[in-house]
Amino acid sequence: MLIKIEDVTKTYSTRNGPIRALDPLSLDIKQNEFVSIVGPSGCGKSTLMMMLSGLVSHSTGRISIAGKPINGPYTDIGIVFQQDTLLEWRTVIRNVLLQAELRKLDMVKYTERARHLLEIVGLKDFENMYPHELSGGMRQRASICRALLHNPPLLLMDEPFGALDALTRDQLNVDLMRFWRESPTTVLFITHSVSEAVFLSDRVVIMSARPGRIEDVVDINLPRPRRLAIRETPQFLEYSRRIGRVFESSGILRED
Ligand SMILES: Nc1ncnc2c1ncn2[C@@H]1O[C@H](COP(=O)(O)OP(=O)(O)OP(=O)(O)O)[C@@H](O)[C@H]1O
Ligand SMILES: [Mg+2]
Repeated sequence: MLIKIEDVTKTYSTRNGPIRALDPLSLDIKQNEFVSIVGPSGCGKSTLMMMLSGLVSHSTGRISIAGKPINGPYTDIGIVFQQDTLLEWRTVIRNVLLQAELRKLDMVKYTERARHLLEIVGLKDFENMYPHELSGGMRQRASICRALLHNPPLLLMDEPFGALDALTRDQLNVDLMRFWRESPTTVLFITHSVSEAVFLSDRVVIMSARPGRIEDVVDINLPRPRRLAIRETPQFLEYSRRIGRVFESSGILRED
């Protein structure tokens, strides 16, 4: 098991007193597994991700990655946030290479890899542009290349495509699947989109409203590689419905 989360809770202390973000939560993630988390806004998804990176501490319970307990910042990961975090004064390729620079990796070798990644996501001709010369989707693609540059054994993605239009989002879903096929890695992917979660994942974790707990975990047994058209198949729609039903039965989603 690569990631072990055991009875982890999180309570933030604020000016207005403690805020319980997560109730006891346990989850194991296997190596090279693609796991998505869906759940209502404020249920603690980002909190859980930040605790895995060690940037936010957990209040109780245990988290370990590859057998090592997480008690402080953990750097053997790649992270992609909802809003890209590109540096405006660096070109696209130099933004991607920042990952290698900070880690003091071989720049010649990683420049080659950066170019390869940029090519996969259709940014080959844009490597010398600055972020402000790119569209939102292109910026996010560059961020993904940066997160993947050093082949991290764990990739954390917090609603990386939330701010994008539907078509760009579809394209990035396809690109991400291609990356993942080429260089398998463990992915924890947070999204509000049930369809995106089913399309990408081996397992979908459904969280309750705050304080978050795991309401259900659904195994997605759809064949891979998956094409976008799989979203119209009865099996796919059944998975989406099943997740929707969990939202309804647990009161996360209410209708009049
Ligand atoms: N730094 C913080 N200090 C105090 N409370 C926080 C902090 N970060 C998050 N919270 C609280 O913890 C709860 C969970 O927040 P979190 O950002 O993890 O939710 P989320 O599931 O990622 O939501 P969204 O889908 O809107 O991004 C929220 O109710 C929020 O008020
Ligand atoms: Mg969040």
